[in-house]
Amino acid sequence: MTISKFEFIQVEPTNRCNFKCSFCCGRHQIQGDMAPATLHNILQYFDDCKVLQLQGEGEPLLHPDFFEFAGLAREKGIGVSIVTNGSLLHENNVQRIIETGIERIDCSIDSADSKIYAELRGFELEKTIAGIENLVRLKSKLRLAKPAIGLSVIVMRKTMNSIMDLVRLYRELHLDGSINFQPLQGLEAYSRYYTHEMMLQMLSGAEIDQLKKTYGHNPELQAVFTKQNPVREFFIRLGENVDTAAEGCPWLVRGLYVNFEGYTLPCSVVKDARRFSFGRIGFEAKELIIQARSRMNQDLLRGNTPEACKDCNIAKSICQKTVSECN
Ligand SMILES: C[S@@+](CC[C@H](N)C(=O)[O-])C[C@H]1O[C@@H](n2cnc3c(N)ncnc32)[C@H](O)[C@@H]1O
Ligand code: SF4
Repeated sequence: MTISKFEFIQVEPTNRCNFKCSFCCGRHQIQGDMAPATLHNILQYFDDCKVLQLQGEGEPLLHPDFFEFAGLAREKGIGVSIVTNGSLLHENNVQRIIETGIERIDCSIDSADSKIYAELRGFELEKTIAGIENLVRLKSKLRLAKPAIGLSVIVMRKTMNSIMDLVRLYRELHLDGSINFQPLQGLEAYSRYYTHEMMLQMLSGAEIDQLKKTYGHNPELQAVFTKQNPVREFFIRLGENVDTAAEGCPWLVRGLYVNFEGYTLPCSVVKDARRFSFGRIGFEAKELIIQARSRMNQDLLRGNTPEACKDCNIAKSICQKTVSECN
């Protein structure tokens, strides 16, 4: 059966950035901005889109038409969220974020230690915090429930024992959007650019299990997850109510990633658009994109891991289940 739902779309407005984070594969790509016509076409192709996350391998707020993009989606009743490095949350942008009705902002802060933060991001933590405070202040002055404001955290070997400092920072800043912890990506598309020092920061399976054991029942951390703003993080909503074993990968069931050039891709971690795109917005018809995505999901459900998904844990679990059912 061909599935044609596209309710959760991630769009990369730009892969340009004002930072040079040492772990970021975006810094090694050809740089550019999405053309306004591409966003118009995306919203026309996929008129069932409910949630649009404007983020990719660059800093979304750097796109000169960022607020026009967000406004266009809002006019269609779509919930818009962003992931940002937080460096551009000055008063003018904060005002526009609120006026445009952006419903969720995740700010990337990987360490509450100014020295480690500066080493990783090449920027001053105090300035990022001042930007977040601008946003929190205006939201609170206007007594608004949105945007939900959360933190996005890459957990590394050198930061894994100071997670609670980030929880304290979250509370001090009066944030409400919860904290998304993720390990440093191990996929080749990312790690091929890591230095030796960065390779040493990748957590092993045993370390991840240990973190889950240590923090899984931590009451301070649990409070962050339970008392959060109803506008939850994009990935959580994408996966909600999808029976992965029966229906397939949530991205292939109802999601899509579109890079700044308009190439549609299965998800945000598949980077090789020339090899793995379902088709390019404005060049290929919507039907071709629908069919290509559907074929990929059917392959997965049959236990044949598509090349684009070969290192993905979701794909592994779906394929393993299918293979064990067949035996
Ligand atoms: C590529 S950034 C783009 C948005 C914005 N510039 C930022 O840094 O938040 C999107 C998210 O991916 C995360 N990220 C980037 N490189 C990563 C890596 N190698 N492993 C895990 N997460 C990564 C960032 O920390 C951020 O939360
Ligand atoms: S701020 Fe974001 S996009 Fe920019 S270099 Fe860092 S991770 Fe990459």
